[in-house]
Amino acid sequence: MDIRFQHASGKGQSLPWTADCVLVFAFAEEAPASFAPSVWETAPWLEISPGLRDFHGKKEERSLLYGHPESPLSRVLLCGLGSREAFSMRSFRDTVARAVHYCRDKGFATIGLPVENLDRLPEAAGGRERLIRESVVAALLSLHRNDVWRSKRDEESPADPRWLAFLFTEPETPDEDHRAARQGEAEADGVLFARDLSNGPANCLTPAVLAEQAQTLAKECGFGCTVFDREQIETKGMGALFAVGRGSAQGPRFIVLEHCPKGKEQDKPLIVVGKGITFDTGGISLKPAAKMHEMKGDMGGAAAVLGFFRALSSFADADELPRVVGLIPAAENMPGGDATRPGDVVVTLSGKTVEILNTDAEGRLILCDALTYAQQEYTPAAVIDLATLTGACVVALGDYASGLFTEDKALRGAIMDCAEDAGDLVWPLPLWDDYDASLKSDVAYFSNMGPREGAAIIAALFLRRFIEKGTRWAHLDIAGPGYVVKSSPLLPVPGGTGVGVRLLCRLLRNGRIASV
Ligand code: BES
Ligand code: MN
Ligand code: ZN
Repeated sequence: MDIRFQHASGKGQSLPWTADCVLVFAFAEEAPASFAPSVWETAPWLEISPGLRDFHGKKEERSLLYGHPESPLSRVLLCGLGSREAFSMRSFRDTVARAVHYCRDKGFATIGLPVENLDRLPEAAGGRERLIRESVVAALLSLHRNDVWRSKRDEESPADPRWLAFLFTEPETPDEDHRAARQGEAEADGVLFARDLSNGPANCLTPAVLAEQAQTLAKECGFGCTVFDREQIETKGMGALFAVGRGSAQGPRFIVLEHCPKGKEQDKPLIVVGKGITFDTGGISLKPAAKMHEMKGDMGGAAAVLGFFRALSSFADADELPRVVGLIPAAENMPGGDATRPGDVVVTLSGKTVEILNTDAEGRLILCDALTYAQQEYTPAAVIDLATLTGACVVALGDYASGLFTEDKALRGAIMDCAEDAGDLVWPLPLWDDYDASLKSDVAYFSNMGPREGAAIIAALFLRRFIEKGTRWAHLDIAGPGYVVKSSPLLPVPGGTGVGVRLLCRLLRNGRIASV
């Protein structure tokens, strides 16, 4: 679906807006006309429309009003926002998403969204630009289909609307509004790309294929991409990543992405690291069969990093953004004949030895080598890793929020603000030293597993052992929101969510990385 803009031509004329259906958002028990006066002027039939009287603006309430087919704007979809006091960006996004999805079901090819309506929403929404950006994201995400892996498109399902147009009473689109819409498009595009990767079945999306996808994307979007194969991983000394990958016939890969605008080669990069386990059987410490198929989504962190790179390189001002490096350790965790056994000791890239007590705690192993690589090869402005790391984090926070671990207060504040802004919620969890002792090993420097209690924290503490003094680092455990089994307005197809893409975009865009 394209995003467009329509404008008033001259004063005093009826507005030359056209769309199969115009959306109007209104609060409970407030006159819908007061939210879009120009729509009412252009479509006077609205005033006597019977459906108008039955509409109360309750949350999730919807009323489709029809005028004479030849009148300008012959369909208006009233969408309830609920009470004004309870307004949130989250509920606004859901309302837009439901409305656009409904228009698709109805077969409407073109949709109008009056900007004057956005101007009449509470100040807390953050103003017109943010509302434009968020509407675009919500509209595009609401149309997501998982048809990459179907041989034939489902013929029953209606086609997407051709376009959504913002309707302006001004004669031109203000630059900021235009930019906001394009940003929304780029972000949604990154999220959808990440979703498709997470939903990719593991027989098709192997580490090698993930690396190829990264290289194709890099060529398309114009950023740098280097891939290390199994042999290079071994010779470089990434012993932990190598150990996780060795039980699979599909060799591991280490993917390095770089967005470096001209003249910024010497800048300290923001480094984002994404866990890329294309399938997690648990290895020799095999997982139970129930729900094991969901572990094809154990590369949600990698998907977020790739989706983020895709979004950022299509921003109009990509060259003005900071230098960014993406690192993706990718492997398939399988119990093959050459698999790592519980009790094996490996030498990580840092030189520290790890006793692998449970082969199912593989995420931290591939991540530790990536974190070391980040600090050996670069001087990072900050390192942020995203990983579907522990079931314990899902137990703690559910699938609504990711766990955020960092000792850097400014970074924590920036991430939480941007998470709220983007709707990729996070919640802070502690990195208590006391729990670190549970990683003690009798044979190696430490082990990869502690007790079940506090397992999300212990996994984060394992990663912290690879962070050098002075490195600014945050870890996001996205195990809950990374892959969900229930659909919602912005996630019409359950499965991979693309969580993290928008959070990273906001972090970079709001300039918070440079200033924290
Ligand atoms: N990929 C899983 C974590 C996970 C669980 C993600 C559920 C999404 C949903 C991870 O590799 C894992 O298996 N973690 C173990 C660690 C344990 C063996 C210390 C866990 O959480 O049970
Ligand atoms: Mn595992
Ligand atoms: Zn895993």
